[in-house]
Amino acid sequence: MKIGIDKIGFFTPHLYVDMAKLAQARNEDPNKYLIGIGQNKMAVIPPTQDAVTLAANAAAKVLTVEDKEAIDLVIVATESGVDNSKSTAAYVSELLGLSHEIRTIELKQACYAATAGLQLAKGHIALAPDKKALVIGSDIARYGLKTPGEPTQGGGAVAMLVSKDPKLVTLEAESAYYAKDVMDFWRPLSQTEAKVDGKFSANIYLEFFEKVYQDYLAKTGLKLTDFSALLFHLPYTKQGLKGLRKALEGVDPTVASHYYNEFEASRKYNMATGNLYTGSLYLSLLSLLENTDTLKAGDRLGLFSYGSGAQGEFFSGRLQPNYKEALTYQTSEMLEMRAEVSVAEYEQIFSAILTDDHDRKLDISKDPAQFVLAGIKDFKRQYLKK
Ligand code: HMG
Repeated sequence: MKIGIDKIGFFTPHLYVDMAKLAQARNEDPNKYLIGIGQNKMAVIPPTQDAVTLAANAAAKVLTVEDKEAIDLVIVATESGVDNSKSTAAYVSELLGLSHEIRTIELKQACYAATAGLQLAKGHIALAPDKKALVIGSDIARYGLKTPGEPTQGGGAVAMLVSKDPKLVTLEAESAYYAKDVMDFWRPLSQTEAKVDGKFSANIYLEFFEKVYQDYLAKTGLKLTDFSALLFHLPYTKQGLKGLRKALEGVDPTVASHYYNEFEASRKYNMATGNLYTGSLYLSLLSLLENTDTLKAGDRLGLFSYGSGAQGEFFSGRLQPNYKEALTYQTSEMLEMRAEVSVAEYEQIFSAILTDDHDRKLDISKDPAQFVLAGIKDFKRQYLKK
């Protein structure tokens, strides 16, 4: 049975900061952020959006009434969870109006967790082929103002509907994974910003890529040219480019140029958004599908998922007939409709994050999203569908 990704929905809030202007404000050469980091805009997340609302807004973009009736498993992967006990998925399922005869769960392993969700959903559909599973990666990437990690912040959510006979990509059976306890990036329970050993994390990411990519090739007997494109977790797009360069070492330049071209298509949306943590790899997949001119049905995509701490996985998928017709092409418009904020406004919004659970009402009038966080009352988050 073919199982895989039937639909992908993406949401990021309506605000962004320009990376060249941020670089100027930080006394850096703009090209360090634009080329060295590989980001041109960074999503700015208002206090009225959190992991729950981002996830609900992403899923609402693609789910039909029929999809909602068929979903009996909701997995939300996040490292920006809003409660130590109740899962983000419980809130999201209710906001979306899903059935109550359903399993809801939140998964965590840094940026890797949505891949774990996808693999679990695949197993679920193998046992229940007439059902559908909703897998969402939803996060807000925060390192702190004026830190080296600052230009790699961002946020948003990617929702994937997993089913049999999917319209976009089938997931192949083989996969290679590797885990090791590494302190490259983490966020202690008391902190709203991540701790990171930046250069170390970038090197560990590449080590894990080489390990799982080579393991995958050894297991399957496949070679580079059996893939039509390679996709990467993109904490910032230069990091994925470094991974791709590793895979292309010693490869004929005319062959390599094809992979570099597909990579450009796959990083377009990520460059304009920043790190989505769990959603980054899947935003890159959406970016590739909507922006490539050359990929066709049956083409194999290789995907590298990485989560600090650390977990890596390399797996593959095949493009389905008419996959282009199954895409909604809403992303470019959503990204272009966003409003730019100045660096000073971004700093103010960044610092307005909720750091306690006291009663409050938030001003939701300026947030055009369908699902918003309206405040907190008696330690309960107050979500609204507008
Ligand atoms: P930095 O140390 O300020 O930057 O922060 P740098 O000095 O290394 O410069 C960055 C690049 O810009 C370099 O290129 C420079 O040469 C280049 P590279 O050597 O890397 O190829 N550069 C220029 N290029 C063009 N024109 C110029 C110019 N100036 C400099 N004028 C760092 C960089 C990544 C360390 C920092 O942003 C950081 O700590 N980021 C957060 C950590 C991170 O994203 N790590 C990635 C791997 S870990 C991961 O992916 C997991 C994660 O998503 C979390 C999770 O799993 O949940 C993070």
